[in-house]
Amino acid sequence: MERYAHITGWGMAVPERIMTNADLAEIVDTSDEWIRARTGIRERRIAGPKETTGTLAIEAAQAAVEVADIDPATIDLIIVATSTPEYVFPSTACVVQDALGALNAGAFDLSAACSGFVYALSTASNAIRSGAHNTVLVIGAETMSRVVNWEDRGTCILFGDGAGAFLLQGSEQPGGVLSCLLRADGSGGSSLMIPGGGSRAPASFDTVREHQHCIYMDGKEVYRFATRVMASAVKEVAQMGGLELEQLQVIIPHQANQRIIDSAARTLGMPEEKFVVNLDRYGNTSAASIPIAVCEAVAQGRIRPNDNLAMVGFGGGLTWGAALVKWDVMEKADISFWHRARRRASYEMAKVRSVVRRGVRQVEGMVYGTGPLRPPPEPSQMPPAQSPPRKQPVDGKAPPK
Ligand code: UT7
Repeated sequence: MERYAHITGWGMAVPERIMTNADLAEIVDTSDEWIRARTGIRERRIAGPKETTGTLAIEAAQAAVEVADIDPATIDLIIVATSTPEYVFPSTACVVQDALGALNAGAFDLSAACSGFVYALSTASNAIRSGAHNTVLVIGAETMSRVVNWEDRGTCILFGDGAGAFLLQGSEQPGGVLSCLLRADGSGGSSLMIPGGGSRAPASFDTVREHQHCIYMDGKEVYRFATRVMASAVKEVAQMGGLELEQLQVIIPHQANQRIIDSAARTLGMPEEKFVVNLDRYGNTSAASIPIAVCEAVAQGRIRPNDNLAMVGFGGGLTWGAALVKWDVMEKADISFWHRARRRASYEMAKVRSVVRRGVRQVEGMVYGTGPLRPPPEPSQMPPAQSPPRKQPVDGKAPPK
């Protein structure tokens, strides 16, 4: 029997703090007019001191689990697409697994920059279709504010923070994720990158001084690449799924720039109304932008049952990808008070379980003579977003040597 991967839950989370274009104009040499005219962005959300990629991912995941109305212990696999993970390792997916009490899940992070969510959706769908997994949680989560150079007006105006999640479940009923297209061109890697902090340029005083842990982007090059690949990816993924462009009701593009979206709409010959756009309020949230846009479109009634959707992403790598989805969500009875209460209690239990397991490890360490575990150091500085820097633009287009 052939198996299909259906989206049965979805959720999003964004920080409360709003940073407007006017706020940015106090930090770098820019203006609301310039940002709106060149990008369409009016404001973005910025994580507060207690918010991280992990906390946003957990909130979005819990919302998706709620919509799907499942027990977190039934989740087989958790994939977090992110370029701003909680740590290099352990993965942010493991942080989510622990918080949800997803005791039977494997968990890993996926790195494909702004295309990450489409890559993760494709991976999850294939895992389900192969029969290896049945219930997979896919999350796109970012705190881009922690990796932008707040002195570089060419990039800091673009990005924002947030997370979105889908819960996918397998069934023999045709539908769900119909086709996926993933592509990469590593020759364009230097057009959009964080050069420092990897094995090539490990963290040092120099890498920090030179802002190598921040985003470097050749905006024009990325713009050209995006307008080249977006329309063709939508066409190709529709063809792979056996649909004509006219049969697509909604397009959910990566939310990078209104002009890029307009250009894709023109090339495809599709009305702009079919494109979901919320970048005016959130900016570019990288791997989180597509699931956040889907959640909002569902809440607004723009995505209706049995609509055919095309999601299309592009970004660092260079990478791009598209997914064709039949939004054949099953009508669910109202989730009972007891289900909600039990799930909330299970999250509290997950916290207790996590603390107990850490305690057991400490005791084991002493019993087996390896000594107590040393806790990791606390971050000694506030994140950059909390301490806006001097008003002095720096042209950060070329990565430092
Ligand atoms: O997820 C993928 C992420 N990346 C993208 O999608 C980015 C794609 N690229 C873009 O969206 C656009 O290239 C940008 C919005 C980044 C830049 O727009 P642009 O129309 O390509 O502007 P530009 O870089 O050619 O700059 C035009 C002028 C320059 O001044 P001069 O040399 O003409 O005097 C820039 O220095 O605008 C200046 N400029 C700014 N002015 C005010 C650049 N950034 C700013 C700014 N405010 N924030």
